[in-house]
Amino acid sequence: DQIEKGGFEHFMLKEIYEQPKAITDTYRGRLNREEAIIKMSSVEDNMKKFLAADRIIIVACGTSWHAGLVAEYIFEDLARIPVEVEYASEFRYRNPIITEKDVVIAISQSGETADTLAAIKLAKSKGAFVFGVCNVVGSSIARETHTGAYTHAGPEIGVASTKAFTTQITVLSLIALRLARAKGTISSSDFRHHLLEFEMIPKKVEKALESDAHIKMIADIYKDSKNCLYLGRGYNFPVALEGALKLKEISYIHAEGYPAAEMKHGPIALIDENMPVVVIATKKGHYEKVVSNIQEIKSRKGKIIGIVTEGDVDVRELADHVIEVPETLESLSPLLTTIPLQLLSYHIAVLLGKNVDQPRNLAKSVTVE
Ligand code: G6P
Repeated sequence: DQIEKGGFEHFMLKEIYEQPKAITDTYRGRLNREEAIIKMSSVEDNMKKFLAADRIIIVACGTSWHAGLVAEYIFEDLARIPVEVEYASEFRYRNPIITEKDVVIAISQSGETADTLAAIKLAKSKGAFVFGVCNVVGSSIARETHTGAYTHAGPEIGVASTKAFTTQITVLSLIALRLARAKGTISSSDFRHHLLEFEMIPKKVEKALESDAHIKMIADIYKDSKNCLYLGRGYNFPVALEGALKLKEISYIHAEGYPAAEMKHGPIALIDENMPVVVIATKKGHYEKVVSNIQEIKSRKGKIIGIVTEGDVDVRELADHVIEVPETLESLSPLLTTIPLQLLSYHIAVLLGKNVDQPRNLAKSVTVE
């Protein structure tokens, strides 16, 4: 066990630290910056189906569903393909409208989640083309889908998913960029810019990991909180959901993720001096609007932990704490903003003495309904 943890105290921490390599392994051989191409055989072979699709339906559960939500922004923004993201468990029982022109993307780390598998079977029976994004090679979902692309995250042991999430976003971003290029919805210079930024992500994840000690200190301040709110907008709204899920899963602190602007329709009523609010406020992503959301929290005495771009000034003035991540394209920012949220939940859970790798009541893969 100790050897497998590679010197880390927990699998979760090891897996958080493996992300620069896992992301690199996932895009290696698929992204070629010199030639300015993205090549994924399963996408090339089915390009006609992707290009003819009226929409893409993404089905998944848990953290994989959050990766699907990030993908919705990327596909719509870059490739201009309408996307619907569905909880597999709801989709399968809703008598959904699926046609032969639909492309369904199923996302699953384990490739064994019962609800996702059932959703795939249903979509196939209605004639849809089903593409899988799995981590476990040869898993049930990898076999049941028509084709797919693996994330190359390596084995994920910690129940709380970390590197599976960022590598899922990596694969989905590559697909979206490839389709955008094929459709001509991205200019060649923007495409090149994306590839360049993509290649810098692993180094930037490493940089984000350097805040570990600072995050541990913040964790110590808030570990006894009863509730925590996570806010983000646009590409970083799903990251807020994922941050809240991570905290719930392993520390058992009640946490909610919300789109920052939606705060005024409910969560703002909860804000007082005992409520920590984690706000993803990176530059480019509706920054000014998020800053004004932060002002609203501050005027109600909420405690603000801002996830900001390096060198940020405005949020730093308002927030109780800031955690910096390197600058990147908005579409790639979830790969960086996720990192401090993983570390924050990890440290809080460790400080509370919880079983980080095997939290109560949860399973790594849910093979029953
Ligand atoms: C369980 C795990 C989560 C995971 C979810 C979906 O709830 O604890 O970490 O996100 O299942 O699993 P999958 O293997 O389909 O991605």
